[in-house]
Amino acid sequence: MAQEGKGLKDAYRECFLVGVSVNQRNISDSLQSNLIKREFSSMTAENDMKPVSVHPRDGVWTWDRADRIAGFCRQNGIKLRGHTLMWHNQMCDWMFYDGQHNLVSKEVLFQRMREHIHTVVSRYKDVVYCWDVFNEAVKDGPRNPDGPDQPLRESIFYKICGNDEFIRKAFQYAREADPNALLFYNDYNECDPTKCDRICEMVKEMKAAGVPIDGIGMQGHYNIHGPSAEDIEAAVSKYTRVVDHIHMTELDVRANREMGGQLEFSHNGEAAITEEIKKKQEDKYNEVFSIMRKHADKVDCVTFWNLSDRDSWLGADNYPLLFDRDYKPKKAYYVVRDFK
Ligand code: GLA
Repeated sequence: MAQEGKGLKDAYRECFLVGVSVNQRNISDSLQSNLIKREFSSMTAENDMKPVSVHPRDGVWTWDRADRIAGFCRQNGIKLRGHTLMWHNQMCDWMFYDGQHNLVSKEVLFQRMREHIHTVVSRYKDVVYCWDVFNEAVKDGPRNPDGPDQPLRESIFYKICGNDEFIRKAFQYAREADPNALLFYNDYNECDPTKCDRICEMVKEMKAAGVPIDGIGMQGHYNIHGPSAEDIEAAVSKYTRVVDHIHMTELDVRANREMGGQLEFSHNGEAAITEEIKKKQEDKYNEVFSIMRKHADKVDCVTFWNLSDRDSWLGADNYPLLFDRDYKPKKAYYVVRDFK
């Protein structure tokens, strides 16, 4: 299946879309935008469609950056993943408070969420094919050994509502606004067996109650040591039993000092990335893509979180992506593209 000279999107045409998250520079600079057009069939705005970016204050909407990304997709026929409607970070924090800075009632919160979701989803309805409706609402860590598990992160949403109604409502509002977009629950540490089970249980229960969840987003912020192929495979298999659409939404494979052990290196720039680290990264990317290809009947999209190491939220010295800080493909790129 190796496709010499073609982009990732062509190599994976029979499997799934290959996506990339972008910033404003990526779509304005011609070298970077040509790379996007050559390699990718799906895009995500890294930050520019998040609540804080488009709706910083009550009644104030700031669309320029999001519009530019949507325009780039329209112009170049690239599909756009909407990211993200609701999240406890980079959120419209004003939504949670009244004029005296007291927390609002859940009714007020729901009304504000509804207005936000309807406005954003309607604006990009023609170009956005799926939305991350709720990001990171499930908590990390072991189950409570002394009683029932409370599966949700104790976010400000949870504080106001006391249960999971805010998640259900967000999906309902998104479905009302666009009956055709695929609606995703998106989270990190999604291959941790306990968290994976929590996500599956929550989504399964909500779907059974009629909440319109179409898919699960596996963020895919990995590193050269983990998660293991077994844990990734187990997680994808479990998710496929709950939903028909799996997206890997934010893939990167970092090689940083937090990993410790013999591969520990200090942030001295690319020189610190040894051949051994590069090989481990190539192997991890190969593992991830082999597993995704195996599940291509339900995996519709694999998105990299940023275009090149230079753009990565982790910093170029973490060496996490397929293109280096000069936008040149690394060996890992060919490992992913020219699969057998
Ligand atoms: C989370 C979010 C992304 C991004 C990354 C870090 O995974 O979903 O939007 O902010 O964190 O950059």
